[in-house]
Amino acid sequence: MQRRLTVVEGMALAYDIAKEWEQIKNFQARDGDILIDTYPKSGTTWMQEIVDLIMHDADEQACRRGPVYERIPFIELFHLMKPGIEEVNRMPSPRILKSHLPVQLVPQSFWEHNCKVIYVARNARDTVTSFYHFDHILLFHPHPDPWEKYLERFMKGDVGWGSWYDHVKGFWEAQGKHNILYVFFEDVKKAPLQEIRKVAKFLGKNLSEETIEKIGRLSSFEYMKKNPMANYSDFPKEILDQSEAGFMRKGKVGDWKTLFTVQQNELFEEDYQRQMAGSSLKFPVGK
Ligand code: A3P
Repeated sequence: MQRRLTVVEGMALAYDIAKEWEQIKNFQARDGDILIDTYPKSGTTWMQEIVDLIMHDADEQACRRGPVYERIPFIELFHLMKPGIEEVNRMPSPRILKSHLPVQLVPQSFWEHNCKVIYVARNARDTVTSFYHFDHILLFHPHPDPWEKYLERFMKGDVGWGSWYDHVKGFWEAQGKHNILYVFFEDVKKAPLQEIRKVAKFLGKNLSEETIEKIGRLSSFEYMKKNPMANYSDFPKEILDQSEAGFMRKGKVGDWKTLFTVQQNELFEEDYQRQMAGSSLKFPVGK
């Protein structure tokens, strides 16, 4: 694994991912595939667990059939770990897949098959905070220290999967064009059952209130943290070094306050206003 980024089609991407770009770009989606797409650290794994539980009517055992990254493969990592492309091609429909690609780089086949896409967005400050901690343990991204420089790199889009600003705006604007459900991390945190109901409806699943409540319980932070099939504890160590910090960190809204100085917050805000100018996208919280 190399701790460096390279630019692919205008987006900064881990070198170890970028070198297989043609395979990623040419991924063949099929009718009925469900894609969970997010900017990194926006609650992807949380949504993966929710969607798997919805599709399995909250059957706890069924959702423990394997670790989350095997149940819901990550299309950018097929060449780095299991399941590889052959196994994914053999998976029965409907497959649930994960990606962090920005909307313009999502493999074309997803749009050709009119696949349902669930997009989760998290406010920029908590995302960069979570990403900063994560990039310490993710071995194919540059080491993030010092924080001050990392924050600058994030604002410039010089981190893995590029610009947060373009990512969240891109999917926001694509809603009219494609089959996208846009969900906010902060809403799931505040009203999980309401958001689970929304996702279930989007997926065409008619679930009882009892089932929705069970999904809420099984996808709570506390529950997932203890669930080895959801908490990444068995993830390949060559990619994720969890010897000092685990994947399930805090799961909170507002943790950015532990990292940003007052001055960094002001500069960030100024830049944020500039980068988000003209967009109707407004986050539920974040300041
Ligand atoms: P923190 O680092 O702020 O704790 P992703 O899955 O996209 O990598 O996102 C990871 C972030 O989502 C981490 O944020 C993680 O703790 C949080 N997360 C994962 N499962 C969660 C849950 N059930 N409830 C709340 N947050 C969760």
